[in-house]
Amino acid sequence: MINDDRTIVALDFADRGDAEALVARLGGACGHYKIGLELLTAAGPGLVEELVGRGHEVFLDLKLFEIPHSVAGAVRAAGALGASMVTVHAMGGTGIMSAAVDAAREFPGLRVLALTVVTSMTGSDLADIGIGVTPDEQVLRLARLAAGAGCDGVVASPREAGLLRGVLGPRPLIVTPGVTLPGADAGEHAARSGTAQAAFAAGASHVVVGRGVTRAADPLAALRRVRSGG
Ligand code: C5P
Repeated sequence: MINDDRTIVALDFADRGDAEALVARLGGACGHYKIGLELLTAAGPGLVEELVGRGHEVFLDLKLFEIPHSVAGAVRAAGALGASMVTVHAMGGTGIMSAAVDAAREFPGLRVLALTVVTSMTGSDLADIGIGVTPDEQVLRLARLAAGAGCDGVVASPREAGLLRGVLGPRPLIVTPGVTLPGADAGEHAARSGTAQAAFAAGASHVVVGRGVTRAADPLAALRRVRSGG
């Protein structure tokens, strides 16, 4: 039985066999997987179809940042595979977000998420690329742009979930990676991380957890800890 699709496990593997082994270990405990560029490139789209065929939801994290025509084509390809979510960079602007939203219309199960600011970025990283505002301000600006373009939701860090829920209202999806296990070292997420409980309490609709589960000695126990906060 698949019992939770709000906690998404990121299958960040270079090898299809490793990804399939993890899916087998989690069994019915995980209903929703994220496949990113590493695994998609290494394993090919067949894995997406296989997981969808087995009843899982698949968040295809393509992080699209291209000309609108190419973004639309990639979104249609994701929809044809049966993906439930696909990401586009909000920093690419309204043109590419609107192209993604238009392309997704023929796939009722596909939701377009706008990636605001990756969770590892700090204010000084933004300053380096010529953006002189805080991560919060930039996330908010991009989230408003995404909502205006018709995106179904945004990807942001747990730290911004509350702010975004307040501004966007109850409907849009707020998906937060940068999730750490209770008591664990935040590692590279340190700048803008949080636990799943904190993210959900702040208004996240979904959380994404990767290595905290996939590299754990007991991935099923780790997933339970992510959910329970214990
Ligand atoms: O760090 P973890 O393995 O939990 O990462 C899971 C997902 O979160 C990754 O696939 C990546 O897309 C996203 N992530 C992020 N910012 C980071 C690290 C990971 O958005 N600093």
